[in-house]
Amino acid sequence: MTTFETYLEGRKGTVLDDDLVTVLGNIAEATRQISDKLRTSALDGLTGATENTNVQGETQKPLDILSNEILLEACRKSPAVSFAVSEELDTEVAIHADGKYAVIFDPLDGSSNLDVNVTVGTIFSVIEAKTPADILKSGRGQMVAAYAAYGPQTSLVITIGAGVQIFTLNDDGVYVMTNADAKIVPDAKEFAINAARRSSWDDVVSAYVENAIDTGHNMRWVGSMVADTHRIFNRGGVFLYPADRNKPAAGGRLRLLYEANPIGFLVEQAGGAAIIGKSTILDIVPTGLHQRVPVIFGSKNEIAKISAEYNAEKVAEPA
Ligand code: AHG
Ligand code: MN
Ligand code: MN
Repeated sequence: MTTFETYLEGRKGTVLDDDLVTVLGNIAEATRQISDKLRTSALDGLTGATENTNVQGETQKPLDILSNEILLEACRKSPAVSFAVSEELDTEVAIHADGKYAVIFDPLDGSSNLDVNVTVGTIFSVIEAKTPADILKSGRGQMVAAYAAYGPQTSLVITIGAGVQIFTLNDDGVYVMTNADAKIVPDAKEFAINAARRSSWDDVVSAYVENAIDTGHNMRWVGSMVADTHRIFNRGGVFLYPADRNKPAAGGRLRLLYEANPIGFLVEQAGGAAIIGKSTILDIVPTGLHQRVPVIFGSKNEIAKISAEYNAEKVAEPA
């Protein structure tokens, strides 16, 4: 049996040093705690919304705030963490003055689904950052990216740049490896998009979806990117959250640093592809902590088709 801890120990000397192993152990422990809180949230009065809004103007759920606190505490417990960046924090938070790693996270992804009892998740990545300016680097600078999916099972899906490993939380609260080398199949006839927004799609996305429907593709949309991603890890497919064609400069709905980049790193490490249009997600140099980008990722050959259409278009990139 390979646990998360034994896996990390065995990979020391790669990007993992003792400090980073401690950071990842503490973040994994935080996801265990969040998983527990979710399981009994209705019994503990942790449902509904709060009166707070985050920096992006979104109403925070009690569990958005609690998960953010749990992850911040995991960062404080880790001497090597320099900064924390979170969807639920206005700006970066300094953690340890002599730290070297920034931890960047979406504490709860899909939190509009919390009371619906649908799979939600935590997304995070770790980069080297000694100053706030170091945080705004492209996704290629990620050392680690991961998500925890809280569903019927709690799964931890991680890359340290050596493929993708999946761990499943057992009854003793131990993450046990259940897939040593997760791959996204290159071809699959399934797409995920919020079709209610089709009037705002660009021509490439509209044509792709129309053709997919005409050629017998299936559609799924959970409304939690982590859950949609986990399905794609299991059976392939494509996820699309394009920019609004009338407001391309606003990017899409999803945020580059703590949603698009970690998922992009995981997807590429599993043999899939992740783009915003003509460019790949991981090549974008961020301009802000909460910057939004279009997100299109999944099975390699499907993404290649979409990418070819963007590259054939004479219009500017939607970002
Ligand atoms: P968050 O809950 O962290 O704000 O992110 C929600 C995101 C993502 O998980 C999901 O794919 C998307 O928002 C859902 O958007 P729609 O409301 O347009 O379905
Ligand atoms: Mn999210
Ligand atoms: Mn969130």
